[in-house]
Amino acid sequence: MPDFFVDPNIAKAKTLNADFYTSPTVFEQCREKIFALSWQFIGNADLVKENGEVYPFTLLENYLDEPLLLTKDKSGEIHLLSNVCTHRGNLVADKPCKLNNLRCRYHGRMFGLDGKFVSMPEFKEVENFPTKDDNLPGLEVFKWSKWLFTSVENKYPKELFFRDMMERVSWMPLDDFKFEPGLSRVFNVKANWALYCENYLEGFHIPFVHAGLNAVIDFGEYATELFFPYSSLQLGLAKNVADCFDLPSSSPDHGKNVAAYYFWVFPNMMFNFYPWGLSVNVVEPVSISECRVKFFSYVWDESKLDKGAGAGLDKVEQEDEEIVENVQLGVRSRFYKHGRYSVTREQGTHHFHRILAEFMNK
Ligand code: FES
Ligand SMILES: [Fe+2]
Repeated sequence: MPDFFVDPNIAKAKTLNADFYTSPTVFEQCREKIFALSWQFIGNADLVKENGEVYPFTLLENYLDEPLLLTKDKSGEIHLLSNVCTHRGNLVADKPCKLNNLRCRYHGRMFGLDGKFVSMPEFKEVENFPTKDDNLPGLEVFKWSKWLFTSVENKYPKELFFRDMMERVSWMPLDDFKFEPGLSRVFNVKANWALYCENYLEGFHIPFVHAGLNAVIDFGEYATELFFPYSSLQLGLAKNVADCFDLPSSSPDHGKNVAAYYFWVFPNMMFNFYPWGLSVNVVEPVSISECRVKFFSYVWDESKLDKGAGAGLDKVEQEDEEIVENVQLGVRSRFYKHGRYSVTREQGTHHFHRILAEFMNK
């Protein structure tokens, strides 16, 4: 197991050892050391709209692969439960539906929509039964506006990840943002998940890789703000005022021509706010050299769709994929171990590598 180290001084630092992207052992370790500990995106709260609705899903399919169940109980409270029956491990719910109770169809064990054990046939003789171990384990759910998140191990307070972003955009009418499945996408990328993230975390490549985006963004004014410990922001300022947010005086950015807020939350979530709304991007590890990137689009002002930095996102994505897939081929080389960072343009990537090293060395 390589010892990852990234110097806190960016001017002295070497980039993360390339083993991070190529070692199968490291890829396996990231599962528990990073993904089970951090906060992960579930989706919209209206996956369970009405009381009694249940929604089974797999958290990070092909990676964490955790079978979970979102429920809304009779009083309208949302619960996130393990979808695994506490008897012999059958999956309790297999499709979204509306129910009074959860009933395992293997041997009939029944649970409330809050996960509490209710009944079990043929168990009268069993001693010391039921106990709390017979309830479906519940997971913490964090709800920000309509978005739900969870952390499997729940060891890190959510504030360490979300606080700075939530404060910065607190003036936006997030509850009015409307999910647009038609504008949402899934991309399969032939690159390690971390390569996709670290590319996102620097605007350095914009003039080289994204001619279209570069035409609307003021590269000279592009700024990275690191939030400690576990998130960051890249602020894209517009060349043309027509492509900007109309910022209220309550916004700390009032007076700036903000074209886009690119927030990143460790390890794999991006929240891109444009004048038209929000694109949530989630990077899911699939294998050591593949990831799946999901774009969830939420529209706030339809008239601004396809303008400024929030236009042509499919093309920008394609340009990023092409470059990141090339990097995947490069980091496997016998001749590549480390690079160095631009002090002025790669602070976001350096911050990400520092956090990766911190989690891996725990
Ligand atoms: S596995 Fe669920 S009742 Fe037996
Ligand atoms: Fe890019």
